[in-house]
Amino acid sequence: MTTFRIQTLNNISQQGLDRLPRPRFETGAEIAQPDALLVRSADLHKAEIPASVKAIGRAGAGTNNIPVAAMTKRGVPVFNAPGANANAIKELVLAGLLIAARNLAPALDFVRKLDSDDKAMHETVEAGKKKFVGMELPGRSLGVIGLGAIGVKVANAAVELGMEVWGFDPAMTVQNAWKLDARVNQALSVDEVISRSQFLSLHVPLIEATRALVNADRIRRLKPKGVVLNFAREGIVDEAAVIEALNEGRLQAYVCDFPSNALKGHPRVVALPHLGASTNEAEDNCAVMVADQLRDFLDTGNVTNS
Ligand code: MLT
Repeated sequence: MTTFRIQTLNNISQQGLDRLPRPRFETGAEIAQPDALLVRSADLHKAEIPASVKAIGRAGAGTNNIPVAAMTKRGVPVFNAPGANANAIKELVLAGLLIAARNLAPALDFVRKLDSDDKAMHETVEAGKKKFVGMELPGRSLGVIGLGAIGVKVANAAVELGMEVWGFDPAMTVQNAWKLDARVNQALSVDEVISRSQFLSLHVPLIEATRALVNADRIRRLKPKGVVLNFAREGIVDEAAVIEALNEGRLQAYVCDFPSNALKGHPRVVALPHLGASTNEAEDNCAVMVADQLRDFLDTGNVTNS
């Protein structure tokens, strides 16, 4: 009986690894001459991928850390886990909306720096909290660019919060169209979504067509006190344009899921260390989905991608 050797290049959830049981499969970080690679965020563009590799699994939705075109030329399928972490990301986007709407990042910073003297603290809090008066979400507009598994969940949740939601995706699948709440307005272009929105949430992959999709011109078209939420990929938003708009007061906040040097320390930027998919549930779901696909491929040669 053949044993397939799968090299794991990141920590992969045990639930996923359990789908690749011994003796048919062997998994581990130190495996040489692997039949397959299993990765989360490892950047394979810079890696030498051994000739023995017959398949690559990415325990996440995006595949931009994998040289997919080069692998396809080699006949190596790349499996990913679309939708498996969508709920986790949706929840963090909702947190981002609220963090921005209620000025929570500067408010937390303010509390962290409070003097410990009780009387002084009380007076400072009373004076300081005026700076953090926020806005409520019902009736405010949210644009969602990209109506895949994550975008649909974000759009539907925002509708439930009472927001007026505008969505755009030129390539929405029939399945996602069915899942989209009928109260989500469908726009005809990125520009239409942006000009109708105060809040903007991005849910597209980073490809040539989406690089700097949100540029200076588009940021200018957002409604006043605009907020851009980028839980997708860094290059989709022109950061220099964001800083300019924040400094000029045209943009109220930029919330993103990447720590970027250009944005570091800006008081109106909330930057997270790519936490969108970092829940136990999402890590399990992604690992299980991709391990099942690798197992089926290695066992039978069948390519399944759910
Ligand atoms: C994704 O593409 O789904 C995320 O980048 C997953 C992750 O954080 O690993």
